[in-house]
Amino acid sequence: MTLSSDCLADELPWTPSGDNLVVKGDNLEFLRTLPDASFRLIYIDPPFNTGKVQTRQTMKTTRSATGNRVGFKGQTYQTVKGVAFGYNDAFGDYWEFLEPRLEQAWRLLTGDGTLYLHLDYREVHYAKVLLDALFGRESFLNEIIWAYDYGARSTKKWPAKHDNILVYVKDPSRYYFNSTEVDREPYMAPGLVTPEKAALGKLPTDVWWHTIVSPMGKEKTGYPTQKPEGILRRIIHASSEPGDWVLDFFAGSGTTGAVAQNLNRRFVMVDQNQEAIDIITKRLGNNLLGFPVSLIEFPGISKG
Ligand SMILES: C[S@@+](CC[C@H](N)C(=O)[O-])C[C@H]1O[C@@H](n2cnc3c(N)ncnc32)[C@H](O)[C@@H]1O
Repeated sequence: MTLSSDCLADELPWTPSGDNLVVKGDNLEFLRTLPDASFRLIYIDPPFNTGKVQTRQTMKTTRSATGNRVGFKGQTYQTVKGVAFGYNDAFGDYWEFLEPRLEQAWRLLTGDGTLYLHLDYREVHYAKVLLDALFGRESFLNEIIWAYDYGARSTKKWPAKHDNILVYVKDPSRYYFNSTEVDREPYMAPGLVTPEKAALGKLPTDVWWHTIVSPMGKEKTGYPTQKPEGILRRIIHASSEPGDWVLDFFAGSGTTGAVAQNLNRRFVMVDQNQEAIDIITKRLGNNLLGFPVSLIEFPGISKG
């Protein structure tokens, strides 16, 4: 990994002909510098609690012929403040934080590109409503349930042991999806299918059973919210081709970049936390495959 100098304020920090990029800084400011329609795949796993105190302004969106805002897919919708997320300040602040970043994600996807938004049961239903408004309801492709089995089990309610990954495409008539590259699963009753079929396995559905990153395993980086490479491998195989640009602007330990690099995709990753950047640098440094990687701070030093 090449550690390049800070980005100069009057240069574009990234172009499609440049190196893979790791950016230390706030993602929103950085995303605004990227050209439209540059990434075939965007995966993001935002933190639930940003720790930011934002101006209190809750919102919900409803379709309206006379709405004050034009949706990306052409329909108009009205922004009505103060209702849907009004019951919890932290929650409203969270959506104030996430919404402009999701708008950037839409802008940055190629016409055949796909967004994977990784959340849990607390936020996913609100995110579905918001993304339906931003992308258009017909652009919703899937809700993937990542099921795991780890930790204590509540005896007071059904123990929550899954994450939710919402999948939206920019254009439902021409998005890229390649199931042939995706890893397959063993049949539950292999005796009921031909030996050839049993050997090949079956395509995964929208429910993915996958262990969390093992506390003792070699994948573990020590970053608390690290996601398993197996989950990213499936996503990257299905929704991008070798050479494509993949974006993760809540990069954490750099799982997306590490897998993208192994699968010969190019990547841009952003995180504002120095600990994350240190882990990413170490993780990618151990991986000798793929294209060169640069590291910048954003915003950088201004010239003159
Ligand atoms: C849940 S973690 C991502 C974990 C990652 N998927 C992995 O496998 O390691 C979310 C990350 O978003 C970063 N983050 C939060 N707000 C940010 C912002 N405004 N700009 C850039 N990074 C941000 C945090 O520092 C944290 O590392």
